[in-house]
Amino acid sequence: MHKITLIPGDGIGPEITKSIREIIEAAGVEVNWEIVNAGAGVMDEYGTPLPEVVLDSIKKNKVALKGPITTPVGSGFRSVNVAIRQKLDLYVNLRPARILKGAPTKFENLDVVIFRENTEGLYVGIEHNVGDDAAESIKIITRKASERIVRAAFEYAKKNNRKKVTAVHKANILKLSDGLFKSVAEEVSKSYPEIEFDNKIVDNMCMQLVQYPENYDVLVMPNLYGDIVSDLCAGLIGGLGLTPGANLNDELAVFEAVHGSAPDIAGKNKANPIALLLSACMMLRHLDEEVAATNIEEAVEEILAEGEVLTGDLGGSATTTQLTAEIIAKVKAKEEKIA
Ligand code: NAI
Repeated sequence: MHKITLIPGDGIGPEITKSIREIIEAAGVEVNWEIVNAGAGVMDEYGTPLPEVVLDSIKKNKVALKGPITTPVGSGFRSVNVAIRQKLDLYVNLRPARILKGAPTKFENLDVVIFRENTEGLYVGIEHNVGDDAAESIKIITRKASERIVRAAFEYAKKNNRKKVTAVHKANILKLSDGLFKSVAEEVSKSYPEIEFDNKIVDNMCMQLVQYPENYDVLVMPNLYGDIVSDLCAGLIGGLGLTPGANLNDELAVFEAVHGSAPDIAGKNKANPIALLLSACMMLRHLDEEVAATNIEEAVEEILAEGEVLTGDLGGSATTTQLTAEIIAKVKAKEEKIA
């Protein structure tokens, strides 16, 4: 029995986390979920959108599955999603983007893994007004944070038989901050002579991913570029409904999809649970539940290839409940075959 922290989140979060719990149960993995929540919905009770009880639960259980949490735009509290990463020093944001068989995309051959630095860059949120007509935001890049994210990318490449790591930056313009990131990446790459290394300026990287995706493998980059390039890759593989992710450090792991709380479809039984489900498969592997993870992923690929039970974002008209039921039926059929 695994004890896992579950943060349902808000918007489509409660619907999709419910679906994921049902599918994991159907896959035969026993989980004792410790449910805690964050965001606007807990402000009245705790006086903060990120209560200590959430951070304590993750620290205790070491593994969490997290639904999306809405961030007010412009004013109001800062992102709870970013705060969880910073407070727990989850320095790796790991976001694989692979075109699954049958996924609704006209692109081919994308199979990259993004390592986004998760604790600094522009996301430190240091901003101030300069008089009435200007504002300044400060971007922080340190040797320590750059080195550990680049090392994590190389270690991942080594362990997963990936051939190449590309460091992504804008060091031609941001000569000091991105210049430091680039030079640290070059230094770290020397410890991994068996893995090819190159670097790309972020705007060129975006074009290259669209035109020549087969040339790229593991990508490592500062926080903001990682955020943007992961949505670009989500678009290339068939949408945010298919893109999983994880926030990691050497001790803790918080699994969450790349997408947000999708307020436009929240509560309508329209959300696609697959992105969070694929994040949950990464979690199952992290917990050595390889068979369950593979069964679920295969079920998802079969459903995409059949193209009959798909949610609106994938070009179908199925509800979250119908897609969940279809995944469960396929997962159960696989288990019966094994038994
Ligand atoms: P979003 O990812 O929530 O939605 C963008 C578009 O994709 C919308 O049209 C939405 O309906 C669609 N979409 C996203 N996930 C989907 C799914 N699973 N199934 C079907 N369609 C899906 O991005 P948006 O609108 O920029 O952000 C909404 C809120 O989410 C904001 O408050 C934002 O700050 C927050 N957010 C939270 C994140 C997190 O919890 N880690 C990550 C990104 C955004």
